[in-house]
Amino acid sequence: QTIHLSDYRPFAYTVDSVHLTFRLAPKATRVISKIAFSPNAAFPGEFFLHGQDVKLIWAKIDGVDVTPDVTDAGLTCAVPDAPFVWEAEVEISPATNTALEGLYTSNGMYCTQCEAEGFRKITFYPDRPDVMSVFTVRIEGDLPVLLSNGNPVNSGDGWAEWHDPWPKPAYLFALVAGDLAAHPGSFTTMSGKDVALNIYVRPGADEGKCAFGMEALKRSMKWDEDVYGREYDLDIFNIVAVDDFNMGAMENKGLNVFNSSCVLASPETSTDANFERIEAIIAHEYFHNWTGNRITCRDWFQLCLKEGLTVFRDQQYTGDQGSHAVKRIEDAITMRSRQFREDNGPLAHPVRPESFIEINNFYTITVYEKGAEVIGMLKRLVGDEAYYKACDLYFERHDGDAATIEDWLQVFEDTTGRDLTRFKRWYAQAGTPRLTISDDYADGTYTLHFTQTTPATPGQDEKAPQVIPIAVGLLSQNGEEVQPTVVLEMTETYQSFRFDGLTEKPIPSILRDFSAPVILQREQTNAERAFLMAHDTDPFNKWDAGRALARDVLTKMITKDAAPDIAYLDGVAAILRDDSLDPAFRALAISLPSEDDMAQALHDDAVTPDPLAIHRACEALKVAMAQHVQDILPRIMADMIVSGPYSPDAKSAGKRSLGRAALMLLTRIDGGAAAAKTYAEADNMTMQLAGLSALLMIGKGDAQSEAFRDQWRNDRLVMDKWFGLAVAMAPPEKAAMVAQALTQEPDFDMKNPNRFRAVFGALAGNAAGFHDPSGDAYRLLGTWLIKLDAINPQTTARMTTAFETWRRYGVTRQTQMREVLENIAATSGLSRDTAEMVGRMLGNP
Ligand code: ARG
Ligand code: ZN
Repeated sequence: QTIHLSDYRPFAYTVDSVHLTFRLAPKATRVISKIAFSPNAAFPGEFFLHGQDVKLIWAKIDGVDVTPDVTDAGLTCAVPDAPFVWEAEVEISPATNTALEGLYTSNGMYCTQCEAEGFRKITFYPDRPDVMSVFTVRIEGDLPVLLSNGNPVNSGDGWAEWHDPWPKPAYLFALVAGDLAAHPGSFTTMSGKDVALNIYVRPGADEGKCAFGMEALKRSMKWDEDVYGREYDLDIFNIVAVDDFNMGAMENKGLNVFNSSCVLASPETSTDANFERIEAIIAHEYFHNWTGNRITCRDWFQLCLKEGLTVFRDQQYTGDQGSHAVKRIEDAITMRSRQFREDNGPLAHPVRPESFIEINNFYTITVYEKGAEVIGMLKRLVGDEAYYKACDLYFERHDGDAATIEDWLQVFEDTTGRDLTRFKRWYAQAGTPRLTISDDYADGTYTLHFTQTTPATPGQDEKAPQVIPIAVGLLSQNGEEVQPTVVLEMTETYQSFRFDGLTEKPIPSILRDFSAPVILQREQTNAERAFLMAHDTDPFNKWDAGRALARDVLTKMITKDAAPDIAYLDGVAAILRDDSLDPAFRALAISLPSEDDMAQALHDDAVTPDPLAIHRACEALKVAMAQHVQDILPRIMADMIVSGPYSPDAKSAGKRSLGRAALMLLTRIDGGAAAAKTYAEADNMTMQLAGLSALLMIGKGDAQSEAFRDQWRNDRLVMDKWFGLAVAMAPPEKAAMVAQALTQEPDFDMKNPNRFRAVFGALAGNAAGFHDPSGDAYRLLGTWLIKLDAINPQTTARMTTAFETWRRYGVTRQTQMREVLENIAATSGLSRDTAEMVGRMLGNP
């Protein structure tokens, strides 16, 4: 059934303390709970404890046996009208828990995932984030390492006790038990407290992959002290790497649990992109200690309160470690390709949704990334000083609270005196605003006219104007900046802004630094785009001008069969030659929009996209680019060689990224010679994979692919890359066949989300292959999603989003995709998770 934000009611009891004892056994773990409850005088009501897939053995109230009414969802019981102690023993089966929610086993190790509502699969409890308590946990099990939240209190042979002094909601509970090796470290906080740090992994090869994560953790701890004044608050901070995990990682208090792909790193097995992502996720989970744990969410509708803010914080952190410009461009690419896609389709929802059936379906790019954009807009509007002042007040006022978006906005209103009523629409209104722009110039005065509209989204036909911070600069005709960046604050549907005292009509640079998550609609000549690509002082807009140009060139190639535009090719050559530009920036500046981005752009222009035509145009443009700059490529590749031992730092990674971009172009015209050489000589995974991908891209590299497989057979994470690459690089008409063949490999394991995603995420990401006119890829994915749903609803539901764009395409493809969605929907016993997703995709025009 559907849960609504407007139905929120506090729980009728408070929890004064929680004692849990775990007697671990793979298929019959016993959990004994002892929980002190008090009636919540202000909100009297029923005593209901959530519980799912837990077998009740006995229950007592104040030491007296009771017989509660148990259903699929939980239990109710008659209770005293005064504080009382609830005790219960339940049995659960971690070894058969393939949903990877609650307590489960992964390669013989016990671990938990409780966010959002997994704790109810461990024992009966008020499993809601506004019920907070202090937990004491005893673990009994014949395993060398037994971990839970907080500080260790005591341990002996086959048991350990933990106490977490910070009240927390059940979703932050964690338990890990196994034969694990610790990679230790330590950190001294700003007030001089020593914190013991550990990264726990399975003994063996993984032990050599912890060093980077440990250093990243220390950098994060220091950064949160320096930038936000936030200090760590326990004696110990543990991270555990788990192979089977539905998401990236989880911020459980003092015991973060990570998908091993998001923490384990070594130069030989991880790419530069892996290192960057790992550092960002370690920072993200660590930052949750304040934004999420010390201050949590009142209910799950407030998810963006912790996620949007924590993503924003991890983005700031990554920018500080390397280049803010490059990070901003990367984030804008993600927003446009994934969040705009979501916002434009049947799954569109506000940053703070108003209803849901299954909360796990709302851990979305909108809640996370658009949620972070909203924080960024707020910071831009109030300024840095006011932003940090408001954050300080937030931490001071709400420490220990389960808070709301209203609480968050209130601290900004209180520190700045601003009225944020209208700004708050960003939390409530789904859809991406379109900003239409026109301009005029007379007698030294330049005027920009803006109109905003937001298209209807499911359940929201009417949209009100948003508060949009538009960062603008003006350039003179010869490329001088005559107006440095100012932030225009648009609050109405139509609004004009004047710039006086100019001597000629300027060229505007609009939405600098991607100052708002909106789509600009402006008639602009390619000459003007090329001008901005060459002269804009704002790195984001310099990059974006090239993007706009590329999009226009591709659109004409696709819809008009035009030849690649020479002006664009010259622009690319100029960027490549400009050694004064950061290599990472140059690599981004010569990259094309993705094929899915192009499908979205065409759809926005009311053209039905043909993924195959898009694919051919992108390929043709890349060949033309390669030919146009062929004389520069060998020099770039030579200049971008990073000598000395591998380091993942931003500067070295940036050089490699430009070198790899040059290699991809060169491979289109040299028959693969440079790629084969790169592969053979590589001493790190970034370059090894670059060589292999380039070869597979031109239909070569079979021998290298086999060799790669032999070399990395025993490394799960590298084998995930191998599985994914084979599908990603397959020619469109073969992609489904390749994916199907891979599912027959002995080391394909659908129970492992990383492996399943490697194959089927790559299939969905191979746009022309996924949308092959045969419909084979659609049906193959549909079949596997139905199989997966029976064992892992969460990952299945998430992967159904491959079909969210189905209405973009022509009749044949629409019909094929709709049939797959209907088949999934008609599956008996379908999970609530998947049913909700498929229902939304089919239901909303
Ligand atoms: N809070 C975690 C993070 O953002 C994500 C956990 C999501 N889990 C889930 N079941 N949806 O770091
Ligand atoms: Zn998070």
